[in-house]
Amino acid sequence: MAEAGPAASEDPAWRALPLDNLTLTRKEGFAAFAEARETPIPLTLTMADLRALDPAALEHYNDDRRRFLANLRPIKTMQVQELSADLTDIFDAGVDQPNWQAKGMAAIDAFPGLGKTTIGLSFAKKVHNTLISRHGRFTEAGHERWPVIRVGMMGDTSVKDFNWAMLEFFAHAGRNSGSANAFLSRALDCAVSCQSRLLLVDDLQFLQFRSRRGTELANQFKTIANEFPLMILFIGHDLEGKGLYDDPQLARRITPLGLQAFSIEDEAGREQWRRFLLSLEQRLVLANKYPGMLADDLSDQLYARCSGHIGSLMSLIRLGSLRAMRTGQERLTKDVLAQVKLDWAAQQQLAKWEAFLASGKVTSNRTRAEGGGDDAPDAAHPAARAPG
Ligand SMILES: Nc1ncnc2c1ncn2[C@@H]1O[C@H](COP(=O)(O)OP(=O)(O)O)[C@@H](O)[C@H]1O
Ligand SMILES: [Mg+2]
Repeated sequence: MAEAGPAASEDPAWRALPLDNLTLTRKEGFAAFAEARETPIPLTLTMADLRALDPAALEHYNDDRRRFLANLRPIKTMQVQELSADLTDIFDAGVDQPNWQAKGMAAIDAFPGLGKTTIGLSFAKKVHNTLISRHGRFTEAGHERWPVIRVGMMGDTSVKDFNWAMLEFFAHAGRNSGSANAFLSRALDCAVSCQSRLLLVDDLQFLQFRSRRGTELANQFKTIANEFPLMILFIGHDLEGKGLYDDPQLARRITPLGLQAFSIEDEAGREQWRRFLLSLEQRLVLANKYPGMLADDLSDQLYARCSGHIGSLMSLIRLGSLRAMRTGQERLTKDVLAQVKLDWAAQQQLAKWEAFLASGKVTSNRTRAEGGGDDAPDAAHPAARAPG
């Protein structure tokens, strides 16, 4: 991490640049994430089994369940599958090209809480593990292989900050002094010798491309795209509005990829929502769960609570499961979920969705849908009104 303390005049603010995710700002942290073993799935006990456990054993079992719940693997929703396939194609198209050929750039642009970071990281994890298992931990020249460089933005970032963050990822000894250009060429050295193939830049919405700093950074991204032997994956929200595509060269080079909230407006959307709930309920480790617990009996309520946003939904499910364990109910019910408090944005949408679903004009449930749910006014659609 950056050294704290007051910056001297020739010792600019980049030294104290806060990075977003302490565990992922360095290559070792990223490798630990990418290579972590999956949290084992605890056995689903029956109520009788649970009652037979002594308090210590029960606490131990609940600990395992809490850990599992906190580390649920991303669910491969239809959108996740499609987006991952797009990313893989863009990546594969460039990875074996000669280094002097410019590689692809993509940008995942969507509202907060729709799973951008989750998808970006799981793609980066795949790149890391695939290239290391294919080519080994060391390059032919004997350098460590680091297939992925990850930079998470926090606040308005200058070119020098950004270059520093790339060096910080490598814990490069030369990251504490030098010009922005010197930093860039050191980062290029690292990327070339470590055979980096993907640069992941998360939370790009912090940048204002329509400011002087932003223009400089946009130019810098072009330089990186041209000089570095890697694909750049940007992740952020409202990147067009922030001016990422104002630059014609970037506009020509970056493939924009979107991610929407679940929609229950048509049959296909309801089908996806239902499949998602079915795979989610299979993963829950609760003694009283039953097939259809989420997908049949709680579908409307879940949709109303999260307005189709996967982030809010997963919080609701996690908190609800913890409550169901703590209270001994061991299943998710309307009452259990009603007691869980959610984020502000989800609360804002709740009343509206409850009213629609209660009116019977729309349903989230494929099996109950008659003639589609086209009555839900567009304005109510979460993607149209989703909070920023
Ligand atoms: N495919 C998925 N499966 C399960 N949970 C997901 C999935 N995508 C996102 N989440 C959950 O939703 C929350 C928000 O996701 P995140 O990737 O941080 O969204 P964003 O970066 O778009 O704001 C995370 O806590 C994550 O666990
Ligand atoms: Mg994110």
